[in-house]
Amino acid sequence: MQGTLKRALVLVFFVGNAGLLVNFNATPGRAQEVKRNAYLPQLADLMNESMQINHAKLWFAGHAGNWALATYEVKKIKGTIEEIKETIVDIQIASSHWRSLPVNEMLKNFVVNLDALDQAVQAKDSVKFETAYQGFTTACNACHTRAGQPQIKIIAPLPNGSGIFPNQDFTTGSGPQ
Ligand code: HEC
Repeated sequence: MQGTLKRALVLVFFVGNAGLLVNFNATPGRAQEVKRNAYLPQLADLMNESMQINHAKLWFAGHAGNWALATYEVKKIKGTIEEIKETIVDIQIASSHWRSLPVNEMLKNFVVNLDALDQAVQAKDSVKFETAYQGFTTACNACHTRAGQPQIKIIAPLPNGSGIFPNQDFTTGSGPQ
């Protein structure tokens, strides 16, 4: 509902020929540059409020052998993927850079890895869980790198990790590309 409304507003913004858009049109190169490096608040919120948290909780649930909770966390992540898809449609309407990214491929790689993890959870297999979780985490970072955000490095939670964010490496990073 919110997404649809926002999309309609974005369309109105583009179809309408007034206000800010006139300024952007006057300097298309600059507008594109701004969009390329733009902060994507809705996507960032989904990452902060859902992805990072469910990614960490899934690891703790799997390690505790709490497969019912792990199943629940996988479902939450699947729901977030649907929201991400909707958000990316909005982002692509506004950004030619995002229209040029292989978004389907990026998402597919992520979903394939999540499915492998889901299977390990359904099989209640701790060893497979460990391997699949690494693949899943690598898929988070593959998307970050592809999206020009390689400095966002997700890791399997460390018992002595950085406080409430045990699943992110804050120590190194090369910055957006
Ligand atoms: C479809 C691509 C994609 C996938 C898959 C993805 N991310 Fe992201 N993530 C992004 C993008 C793009 C940003 C930068 C958003 C921005 O701030 O503009 C981001 C940002 C983040 C951030 C930083 C948010 C902030 O504001 O500090 C975290 C944390 C994060 N992602 C966690 C994860 C985790 C955990 C996973 C895997 C479970 C994951 N992401 C999978 C694309 C992705």
